[in-house]
Amino acid sequence: MTVSDTLGRPLQDLRISVIDRCNLRCTYCMPADVFGPDYAFLPQSALLSFSEMTRLVKLFVQLGVKKLRITGGEPLLRVGLDGWIKDVLQAVPELNDIAMTTNGLLLPRYAQRLKEAGLKRVTVSLDSLDEATFGAMNGRGIVPQRIIEGIDAAVAAGLEVKINMVVKRGVNDLDILPMARYFRERDLTLRFIEFMDVGNANGWRLDHVVPSQEILQMIDREMPLEPVHPNYFGEVAKRYRYKGTTTEIGFITSVTQAFCSTCTRARLSADGKLFTCLFASDGTDLKQSMRDGADDETLLTIIRKTWSVRRDRYSEIRLSETAELQKRKKIEMSYIGG
Ligand code: GTP
Ligand code: 5AD
Ligand code: SF4
Ligand code: SF4
Repeated sequence: MTVSDTLGRPLQDLRISVIDRCNLRCTYCMPADVFGPDYAFLPQSALLSFSEMTRLVKLFVQLGVKKLRITGGEPLLRVGLDGWIKDVLQAVPELNDIAMTTNGLLLPRYAQRLKEAGLKRVTVSLDSLDEATFGAMNGRGIVPQRIIEGIDAAVAAGLEVKINMVVKRGVNDLDILPMARYFRERDLTLRFIEFMDVGNANGWRLDHVVPSQEILQMIDREMPLEPVHPNYFGEVAKRYRYKGTTTEIGFITSVTQAFCSTCTRARLSADGKLFTCLFASDGTDLKQSMRDGADDETLLTIIRKTWSVRRDRYSEIRLSETAELQKRKKIEMSYIGG
């Protein structure tokens, strides 16, 4: 059974945020002045339980989902996550790809266990190799070496590793080439992400965005690149490889070249709401339906209906309707995951 939305986009990927807390305060995601000591994070009772999560994954897979990505906040702050990964893979063997987006701080402790549980891939966020720049961007003074240790642990455990770097003009654009050289040398895929106007807290401005095309040209001048064909329909990153090697880099161009027309991603918040866009204001409360006793058929009908009326294309209309859109209340990235 598959389901498509009003623009013909099939539901193929599910991204579950397992917790809305994080041990970092990246300025573009959870600025420390907004996410301070008094910030009202979700209480444990509001989070989906592991068995509720498994039940929903099973239903989404029945509707055509093949890829699962675990996000947060910082997903490794959710106690028992490795055990859940093992359980969900046992309960839903059809799931052929399960990945996680993490800031890497806890990977030295968990990488081996995650691999043993069946996780295939991790994407680790790292925005600079410079101590002062990274310390300021992550809002907690964490040095890049700590994240590198996490990356090393993931590689040693046999996980496939990619790196995400959010680029902000005037903040870490000088780190583009050092990052490219370092990860090329290590044969790990680095992806440059255009700074986005997610949520309402990060003070986004268009002139803070470094267009991917500019980054591509900068790298290509020093280390020539060639394009690589997409791996699957709706791939988020535009991929390139360094000529004469198999090492890749990628560009996530959500601001300058939107990819809504092939967006197949559903997002589940940590408190069980289904969102059909990263920039949505509201979601469909699946947790409440489950706790009210809905059976599987009812839940499937709710999910199918939510997806079939979907018309989201925020990134395509962002630049033409900027003033209007910026006034709208949007969910925060830390609540819904990347
Ligand atoms: P794989 O191809 O499976 O490795 O995953 P991915 O490319 O989806 O990677 P990841 O989940 O790491 O996404 C990278 C970043 O791209 C996210 O953190 C977001 O910042 C951005 N992103 C992912 N999906 C979307 C989307 O649907 N819309 C927008 N605007 N941005 C997205
Ligand atoms: N713009 C672009 N990417 C963002 N992320 C978080 N906030 C933003 C933003 N404002 C991405 C980071 C991280 C992932 C969880 O989300 O790259 O890797
Ligand atoms: Fe935490 Fe990731 Fe957001 Fe940074 S980008 S504050 S590491 S959730
Ligand atoms: Fe998908 Fe919304 Fe991102 Fe467009 S802006 S790609 S619809 S999540």
